[in-house]
Amino acid sequence: MCGIVGYIGNKNCIPILINGLKRLEYRGYDSAGIAYLADGSSFVIKNKGKVSLLEEKLSHLNINSNLGIGHTRWATHGIPNEINAHPHFNEDKTLYVIHNGIIENYQTIRASLRKLGYNFITETDSETIPYLIDSFLKKGFPLCKSVQLALNEIEGTYGLAVIYLNEPDKIIAARKGSPLILGIGENENFVASDVSAILAHTKQVVYLEDGEMAVVYKDHFVVKTIEDVEIKKEITEITMSLEEIDKGGYPHFMLKEIMEQPDSVQNSMRGRLIYEEGTAKLGGLEGYIDRIVNSKRIIISACGTSWHAGLVGEYMLEQFTRIPTEVEYASEFRYRNPIISKDDTIIFISQSGETADTLAAMREAKRKGALALGICNVVGSSIARESMTGIYTHAGPEIGVASTKAFSSQLIVLALITLLIARKKDMSLVDGQGIVEEMTKLPDKIRQILKLNSEIEAIAEKFKSATNFLYLGRGYNFPVALEGALKLKEISYIHAEGYPAAEMKHGPIALIDDNMPTVFIAPKDSTYDKIISNIEETKARKGVIIGIASENDDNIDRLVDYSIKIPDTIRMLMPILTVIPLQLLAYHIAVKKGLNVDQPRNLAKSVTVE
Ligand code: AGP
Repeated sequence: MCGIVGYIGNKNCIPILINGLKRLEYRGYDSAGIAYLADGSSFVIKNKGKVSLLEEKLSHLNINSNLGIGHTRWATHGIPNEINAHPHFNEDKTLYVIHNGIIENYQTIRASLRKLGYNFITETDSETIPYLIDSFLKKGFPLCKSVQLALNEIEGTYGLAVIYLNEPDKIIAARKGSPLILGIGENENFVASDVSAILAHTKQVVYLEDGEMAVVYKDHFVVKTIEDVEIKKEITEITMSLEEIDKGGYPHFMLKEIMEQPDSVQNSMRGRLIYEEGTAKLGGLEGYIDRIVNSKRIIISACGTSWHAGLVGEYMLEQFTRIPTEVEYASEFRYRNPIISKDDTIIFISQSGETADTLAAMREAKRKGALALGICNVVGSSIARESMTGIYTHAGPEIGVASTKAFSSQLIVLALITLLIARKKDMSLVDGQGIVEEMTKLPDKIRQILKLNSEIEAIAEKFKSATNFLYLGRGYNFPVALEGALKLKEISYIHAEGYPAAEMKHGPIALIDDNMPTVFIAPKDSTYDKIISNIEETKARKGVIIGIASENDDNIDRLVDYSIKIPDTIRMLMPILTVIPLQLLAYHIAVKKGLNVDQPRNLAKSVTVE
């Protein structure tokens, strides 16, 4: 998903745009470009590849402009190259557009524009936008009206910004489905996909909702619907600091975010555990707790790593609240016309809060009368704002595309929800206090595991040339096996699969030989004896085994090739500990393969299109 940024003010916009694009690069990084107005002319410069290459290109041009827009791309339509890079423009190069999203009816629009004589030079869906606006400008409409008329013809999603040489006092921005904010400064204003692009300049932001557009001048802004109805908007103060979105001396954001987990887990629990009552306090749920406790069913819907967190949540909720719980891929849930009733509580988990499939699934659930809760990390994100209520994970900004600390914080929040509901049902004070006590010990236990970093790096060295991996776990650790496999896939490009360990005999065991590394998540819990037999079955077929085991487990060393010993906790919280060695293993294997860990190929941090 692309990143967009714009500036209008008295300063030179070039460094502001370039630094903003660098901060947005985690959203998309296959090509980049800027357009700006200066000395009564307009200019566009684009480049294939990272923003730093564009910066290099610009460094040879002595540009001074107070109005410009910039874009970093994650290709959906048209290969990553200079022509398909944004900004796109009209034929006389007076109007420039940057777009994040997908124009679903672009072929139809193209056909009608071709009839008007427009010639398309790119393979993108986005190129239709400047031509469509231009067709209305040619009819004599001013820019704002032309943008509105164009947007009313577009189907799909967009976060976009427009500049026009003939109206050099404004940027027009509009949003439908893709995130877009305004940054409010002193005699300067910004537009951006998210706060990280403008945090260096202002903490005053305005969140645009779907169907809203803004006319942004250097000293004021007007927000309207695309039907031209003016809207009064609130300015929100951002609490995040710039330091939080820097690497803090680590080589990669991913490693920094893995190492931050003692604090991020602590922050996710802060002020939410009440030992005396053996329960949790979640302000966001207060008005809804009775409805939640009396739910006939709980559904958790999400994508990717957040879906894996949902699977762990299912184990927690069913074990302790006895409310039937299901987990749904949001992309399937939104289209399969699921049976939903007002007695259902549906939890939508999303780190970014912008994942298109999860957002759409939530809108579907609300439409059908269910209670739609959000668990999000990004404050002010679409899912957070549109959910009926919800809980922030407070894991802090997660920049690395591979989600790590957000996952462990999502598990903390699911454990808090479970505790809150269970204590309203049959769980005793003592059992509740037991869980609260174990949760408070987690940050130190995570610190202990992080001390194994170099040991895990040494194991990674042995497997950097592997071409396949299997991850196996039982019970609460089955979803962790899926998550471990996903981490390895997305940053090391090694094919990996996660399975419930007992499923091995039903097929995957055929893959086992001395070339197939298998990671077993085997802490000493009620499934231990069973998983030891699975390890023996694998060993018997010369499988190479890495075992995630309990620190007091000496028995397993005779069976596995490499063991990573971690502290124990209660079963429901064990995934918060067992996932960390898997995050580090994937990280080190990818680093040893010399790959760009923070911006893995073909991926983006938040998937704002279908
Ligand atoms: C995880 O490492 C990936 N970045 C991806 O699977 C991610 O979890 C998924 O896109 C969901 O994102 P969200 O939590 O922001 O909705």
